[in-house]
Amino acid sequence: MARRPLIAGNWKMNGLLADGLAANLTGLMKGKPDWPFEMAVCPPFTLLQHVGKAIGDSAIALGAQNCHTKESGAHTGDISPVMLKELGCTYVILGHSERRTDHGEKDSLVKAKAMAAHKAGLKTIVCIGETEAERDAGKTLTVNQTQIKGSVPEGSSAATLVIAYEPVWAIGTGRTPTNPEIQEVHAFIRKELAAVIGSEAAGVRILYGGSMKPGNAREIMALADVDGGLIGGASLKAEDFWAIAQSCP
Ligand code: 13P
Repeated sequence: MARRPLIAGNWKMNGLLADGLAANLTGLMKGKPDWPFEMAVCPPFTLLQHVGKAIGDSAIALGAQNCHTKESGAHTGDISPVMLKELGCTYVILGHSERRTDHGEKDSLVKAKAMAAHKAGLKTIVCIGETEAERDAGKTLTVNQTQIKGSVPEGSSAATLVIAYEPVWAIGTGRTPTNPEIQEVHAFIRKELAAVIGSEAAGVRILYGGSMKPGNAREIMALADVDGGLIGGASLKAEDFWAIAQSCP
């Protein structure tokens, strides 16, 4: 099944109005509507509206980095998926390892958020990945298997779900698994996904994330079960982010 690659930038807790990053990005991409890949930027909540305006009717999609399980209510400091949809978001990143670590998010909560996001009409980018200790202990596949089974709602489809495989030890470190290691985990994830959502798994984009840069993007994205990237640090420089996108096979 043909899968259109997705290049998504996760700005994390970075970006101020003054940075002008969104304007730089759209400036670079003007007049290039027929990309063979899809692009998305996921700024912090505070910049969603601003970035949404900057990307305007360009072919770049808007995404958020988290949402609540409820549509509204007494949840101080939280943001609902319905609110994100209203702001023009297409995507929401869920279960990022930084949320799992910083906020103790468990698979069951990630799954509940994904269900709420799908109900609100958002597409989800569900993140999974092993820690270095888990890899060293030979648990890479079982950890990712558990996270897939626990975090992905049964009714998800290729149109609503994207998976991001992000080895925790590769995030922001400049280290990555070898290409055969990445392909092995991605193929395994697709197989495990089929146990949860059936034949739809063949069409789900599985992104690689963790120290993806212009220098390694081409070889990683050429792997059979890699369908794009979730990019942190390098998405904060418009030229690097665009260079990564252009490395799509
Ligand atoms: P880096 O690209 O900075 O390693 O971050 C990856 C990531 O966590 C994207 O969600």
